[in-house]
Amino acid sequence: MFPRGRKLLLGVSGGISAYKSCELLRRLQDQGFIVDVVPTAASLNFVGKATWEALSGRKVITDLWSDVESVPHISMAKENDLILIAPTTADLLAKLASGRADDLLTNIVLASNAPKIIVPAMHPEMWLNPATSANVSILRDRGFVVIEPDQGRMTGLDVGVGRYPDLSKIFSEIQAKLQNNSDLAGRRIIVTAGGTREPIDPVRYIGNRSSGKQGFALALAAATRGANVHLISANADLPEIDGVEVTKIETATELLSVLEAEFPKCDALIMSAAVADARVSNYSQNKIKKNDFETMDLTKNPDILARIAEIKKSGQIVVGFAAETDSKSENLVKLGTEKLRSKSLDLMYVNNVTDGAIFGSDSTQGVIIDSNEKNIDIPEISKDTLSDILLDQLVSKLG
Ligand code: PMT
Repeated sequence: MFPRGRKLLLGVSGGISAYKSCELLRRLQDQGFIVDVVPTAASLNFVGKATWEALSGRKVITDLWSDVESVPHISMAKENDLILIAPTTADLLAKLASGRADDLLTNIVLASNAPKIIVPAMHPEMWLNPATSANVSILRDRGFVVIEPDQGRMTGLDVGVGRYPDLSKIFSEIQAKLQNNSDLAGRRIIVTAGGTREPIDPVRYIGNRSSGKQGFALALAAATRGANVHLISANADLPEIDGVEVTKIETATELLSVLEAEFPKCDALIMSAAVADARVSNYSQNKIKKNDFETMDLTKNPDILARIAEIKKSGQIVVGFAAETDSKSENLVKLGTEKLRSKSLDLMYVNNVTDGAIFGSDSTQGVIIDSNEKNIDIPEISKDTLSDILLDQLVSKLG
């Protein structure tokens, strides 16, 4: 699973300014993009494969004949929300304009329906050559965005038009094409998902019905908006989200210890996991026999949000969830408001889980309770949509 609008392919062709795309890659990552780099063979003379792999944190394929079984030119064409080629040489412009496909990058371009942004960089004579101008207008007619190069000093003593443009120009074209929301770029958000399990013996546990769908939807939505997301997943069996760091835990005690280490580093915590309120006092190393199974001593689990409230610093935002079994909306609000206050939360989403509703479902229904008492009634909507509404509230609290 990839965050929507955040998966980008960076093609690099063989010009001296290829080194500037190392900084471009870093800045794209700061904005929450997951970037696959596809360098042409000529560009490897300027910046090597190892540099791209180290910077992107992803495997880099440089030719059509690697990983043939996974058909990378088709999968990369389909997976990426945008193709950006920086720098683009005069030769590559000519190839793209004539629809050639003789290497990995040109095959991907030809196979992709994603928006394409081209960043030409070359000597002024080459840029102003009528052949290059004709290729640029063919590409523009076909919907490619071709960014005008900057004016200035070239390699050697030449001065003129053809320089790799300022990165801000590239970013505004990306924003215009993807129309994606980057309002959480640069923010670190922790999301807890799923339900904790408290082992009784090697085969049994105390648990709950949480599937993790709500927490995963929140993590995906936050990553889509550019956040650096750390998902703490309690026993959820759901596909990983590319670009989202995951820590898997089983029990409430494990969740508390991960949060004690991670919470001080984040801007916001969204606690959608269903946490078991108690664990067995004496875990049995061996399976308990049927006849020995009459009563169980329980020990209360720590209240994790109460502990978080003790270490919370000003500026950090904490969002809680509450699962209640009262169908009256006014009672939900009352119960939610009490929990919001007792746990020192900034926001709380209360959902009515009578008869196991909402657990495992793709939709939800409830009330968002705000510490400023501006509550929002949520009719039945998808967990994805709720995630975006909650994140809108979170963004306005983060300021
Ligand atoms: O995972 P899904 O199938 O998509 O279902 C979603 C959901 C129903 C699990 C989700 O919407 C939800 O309601 N999650 C919170 C459930 C819950 O634990 O509610 P609670 O009322 O018991 O706890 C209130 C808050 O305190 C929660 O944020 C909880 O994470 C936290 N808590 C609870 C117990 C505890 N010992 N420490 C805590 O911090």
